[in-house]
Amino acid sequence: MNRRTLLIGAGSAIAGAGAGIGLAAHDIGSMEAYAAEAARQRAPLGTSPDLADLLRYATLAANSHNTQPWRFRTAPRSIHILPDLTRRTPAVDPDDHHLFVSLGCAAENLKIAAHASGRPGELVVESDGNAIRYAFRSGTPGAAALAAAISRRQSTRAVYDGRSIAPATLSRLAAASDIPGVSLILLTERARIDQVRDLVLAGNSAQIADPAFMRELRQWLRFNPRSALAARDGLFSAASGNPILPTWLGRPALDCFFTAKAENDKYARQIASSAGLAIFVGDRADKDHWIRVGRACQRFALTATSLGLKHAFLNQPVEVAGVRSELAKLLGAPDSRPDLVMRFGYGRALPYSLRRPVKAIVE
Ligand SMILES: Cc1cc2nc3c(=O)[nH]c(=O)nc-3n(C[C@H](O)[C@H](O)[C@H](O)COP(=O)(O)O)c2cc1C
Repeated sequence: MNRRTLLIGAGSAIAGAGAGIGLAAHDIGSMEAYAAEAARQRAPLGTSPDLADLLRYATLAANSHNTQPWRFRTAPRSIHILPDLTRRTPAVDPDDHHLFVSLGCAAENLKIAAHASGRPGELVVESDGNAIRYAFRSGTPGAAALAAAISRRQSTRAVYDGRSIAPATLSRLAAASDIPGVSLILLTERARIDQVRDLVLAGNSAQIADPAFMRELRQWLRFNPRSALAARDGLFSAASGNPILPTWLGRPALDCFFTAKAENDKYARQIASSAGLAIFVGDRADKDHWIRVGRACQRFALTATSLGLKHAFLNQPVEVAGVRSELAKLLGAPDSRPDLVMRFGYGRALPYSLRRPVKAIVE
């Protein structure tokens, strides 16, 4: 099974089963209501956004399992971003690496949106790494291109169209992701990509075989618009290109229809359709660097979006410790801790994922 795109491999079988048993609309809710809420959450910032608008844009950041593991505290000239440890995912992320990367993604969105709206400032990570402060002043509105990409960015877990990417575009992606303390490795050569693909598949097989990983993942799956709208967090099947099912059917269907082989085959197809891989490696393995990695990867994702590219994460090789050391060796840096793996390329969009309301995340 593809941990975040669970049912693609079994999609047609499940759709057939659904037709056979007659899915009731009230069980699954409506995609129209879902799309309207997604559009509302992604409404443009406008000319003079308030702090709530900036926080809305901060939370549109990438974040692991869409747990949205953050809280915000506002003051007249600063905003604190804090971890919400009630939203940890200890099976996939035992040391909170992904949680702090996710905070870095949100912090970068906040900085870009605030800058574009005439509140330039700096992000400072507090010494224990447990808070990020954005202190801002009034100023001229800054560049709008990345800010405009915030509401259009998504993790697109689909097969792409196989087109390659011009060297100048790759250079722009690399330049935009330049955050001190983080290295970006871009792979576009097929033989190198295939080596990393094999580690993705090895990590995926290990995770599928791990009952704790699967138990945790199930808690974050939303099989239909009704449950996605009720929770406004987690992984909505249609946002991963998967069939919509009533909740009562989703979990047993998951248990019945996926196999490691089918999911690995799907990953192999997705990677083969991608133009390249981006691997982020922090200089050190601490919260400060995990936040930096999040900032770099969010900048990469926004720049890719602004250039018409799609991206999706493939983090199995950094989540399974044994595979992570293999990846570090493959990259020629056996003592490093590779932080994130993403693929990128050209392709079509999928439905957007939802976020919780701003009032739920402000202290
Ligand atoms: C640290 C981190 C790790 C992630 N790992 C994965 C992953 O391994 N596979 C995947 O499909 N998505 C992964 N994601 C993407 C999230 O699931 C995604 O950002 C979230 O569901 C919100 O969706 P969006 O990015 O489309 O807004 C990761 C995101 C972050 C920030």
